[in-house]
Amino acid sequence: MYLFRMSFYSDNNMGAGERPIASEIKAILAACSRYTLASGITGALVFNERYFVQVMEGERSLLSRTVWSIASDARQKNMVLLSAAPINERLFLGWSVGYAGHSEQADALYLRHAIMGALDPSRMTAESVENLVAEFVTGENPFVISSRHAAAAPPPKPAPRAGETIKVRPAPPSPRVPTTG
Ligand SMILES: Cc1cc2nc3c(=O)[nH]c(=O)nc-3n(C[C@H](O)[C@H](O)[C@H](O)COP(=O)(O)O)c2cc1C
Repeated sequence: MYLFRMSFYSDNNMGAGERPIASEIKAILAACSRYTLASGITGALVFNERYFVQVMEGERSLLSRTVWSIASDARQKNMVLLSAAPINERLFLGWSVGYAGHSEQADALYLRHAIMGALDPSRMTAESVENLVAEFVTGENPFVISSRHAAAAPPPKPAPRAGETIKVRPAPPSPRVPTTG
């Protein structure tokens, strides 16, 4: 498989439809979780009132298909492809959706990325956008919802067959923690 990373930004066109914005976001989040969990795509979608910014990693033909399909989604418009390049390893292990609003934590992050005011990907390099998105969705951020990716989770244990004995290995002794004082 050819592992790729693609990123884009587009205008947030969510107010244009019939449905309330909150339910549009929920629907996008549900589609992302459903689809990405099944297809091995990891990444993040970050948005504010003006823009969507998305970074995706996975098999390259799958990523292309996903981007073309998002490009025809009327909830966004004027998609600008920022990057599409092969990668050796993933930056994202799961899938996250985040609202790039303002909080002490978010503003400090914007400042570290030389952003004054609101997130504006049209004035950033692809690399800065990808790094910002990665930093935005990691750690404790109340504006981010994350789903763990299936590939990153341990495989489910097979159910024991009828009559099978399950051996339980005793837990190793816990390491001694040096006490201070
Ligand atoms: C900015 C934006 C990003 C999106 N990103 C994804 C995505 O990464 N994966 C996904 O399955 N759907 C994403 N969607 C939703 C898809 O465009 C589409 O609505 C969804 O896949 C459901 O497709 P379906 O109605 O054919 O099932 C995104 C939508 C928008 C507006």
